[in-house]
Amino acid sequence: MTDPPSPTPIDAASIRAHWRDKAAHWTGWAETTAAMADRFNRPLLDAVGLRPGERLLDLASGAGEPALTAAAIAGPAGRVVATDLIPEMLAGIKQRDPERRLTLVAADMQRLPFADAAFERISCRFGLMFVPDPLAALTEARRALRPGGRAGFLTWGPRADQTLFTALGDAVDEVIGVPADDHHWQVFRLDDPQALTALLRDAGFREVETRALKLDGRAPADRPFWRPQLAMSFGHLLEDGDAATHAAIDAAMRRALAPHRAEDGTRYRLQAHALLATGAA
Ligand SMILES: C[S@@+](CC[C@H](N)C(=O)[O-])C[C@H]1O[C@@H](n2cnc3c(N)ncnc32)[C@H](O)[C@@H]1O
Repeated sequence: MTDPPSPTPIDAASIRAHWRDKAAHWTGWAETTAAMADRFNRPLLDAVGLRPGERLLDLASGAGEPALTAAAIAGPAGRVVATDLIPEMLAGIKQRDPERRLTLVAADMQRLPFADAAFERISCRFGLMFVPDPLAALTEARRALRPGGRAGFLTWGPRADQTLFTALGDAVDEVIGVPADDHHWQVFRLDDPQALTALLRDAGFREVETRALKLDGRAPADRPFWRPQLAMSFGHLLEDGDAATHAAIDAAMRRALAPHRAEDGTRYRLQAHALLATGAA
């Protein structure tokens, strides 16, 4: 397995450019991957205790996960505000929300444009790793949370525990080489539960807990089921319509996944390991 390049110093302008380049891929695949996304959305929203009629702030909403699931739970009497650094991501959410259940706000989670104690619940699904200063983002979230409210942050656990990410990273690296300054690698920056717990405590959260959320799945061995994740993670590095590169990546994926064939040979066994950190105001 190739080790990821060491993350380069994080600078805000290149993070912005990175996510702007990815926005169309995230929007394009959002509905296809929504059922899978819900397997993480539900435990996150359960952990923050969202109930009908409450106000939830979702940070770094991307293409709308878990904000759309949260809107269904909060209901018409509640209010869900979906935020992201990148306006193009919010435009994608708008397409997925024809009933306009969500309030969309472009915002850097390190400097939130909301009053103190404005929300009962805060969620952030796989966003905290990408901010230059996670403590500043957590301190802002704590400020925007009402006393007695709860916030939850999902990050990815160790890279070695993620079958699909690891195989994809290795396959793409083998075929096209991933630039050392690609912010994709930040995805595993907050993979240590103790460090994550300490960050939430330092930001002023009480009752902090971090637990592992491990999902096991099966995927069909006769189909390139990795294409959505390939596009969302690395589509910005691939040329549209470059069939030869896609075929080479597919072949590299089959080699990388071979050790994960399930007993009957028709499926792959996939593991994913996330961390769910929660805290109260
Ligand atoms: C991995 S995606 C997660 C999106 C969504 N929550 C999900 O789980 O599908 C990370 C998101 O963080 C956003 N992001 C990066 N830096 C940010 C910042 N400083 N403030 C707010 N959002 C940010 C990106 O634009 C991107 O949409």
